[in-house]
Amino acid sequence: MIAVNVLNLAQMLEFSQKGDERGHLVIVEGMQDIPFEIKRIFYIYGSDNSVVRGQHANRNSEFVLINVAGSSKVKVKDGKGNEAEYLLNRAHTGVYLPKMVWKDMYDFSEDSVLLCLASTHYDENEYIRDYDEFLKVVNGECE
Ligand code: TYD
Repeated sequence: MIAVNVLNLAQMLEFSQKGDERGHLVIVEGMQDIPFEIKRIFYIYGSDNSVVRGQHANRNSEFVLINVAGSSKVKVKDGKGNEAEYLLNRAHTGVYLPKMVWKDMYDFSEDSVLLCLASTHYDENEYIRDYDEFLKVVNGECE
């Protein structure tokens, strides 16, 4: 059996841009530019560099995060000792986050607008908000 490192599945994505003298237009289509159909979008703004958001894992949801304005950082942990940090500072790039990774969003610039595309409708029950519980679940010690 090949062990899959979930962090290998978190990755930066670059979207097509249609720019002309009128400005930029970035296109993100479900199942084409990202690996899921988009069921929900939400966006985060008005955070600053003193704030850490996220701090949870999702059992069922995949996400793509795009700073459509400003910048922020996302740290992803797989609970098995691997972590990666992504800088989001361009409106035509995003980061794909698979299910069951711990994520922290931080270092928001004042003008940050962080667009989040999700593969699911909102369900609080699929969130794991306790890091110790997350570690137990990914390491098979509880469901
Ligand atoms: P929260 O998960 O704490 O945000 P973040 O991941 O950015 O730290 O969500 C903040 C509040 O918004 C919380 O009460 C749950 C609610 N919420 C929804 O109702 N629907 C959603 O799609 C999301 C993402 C959050």
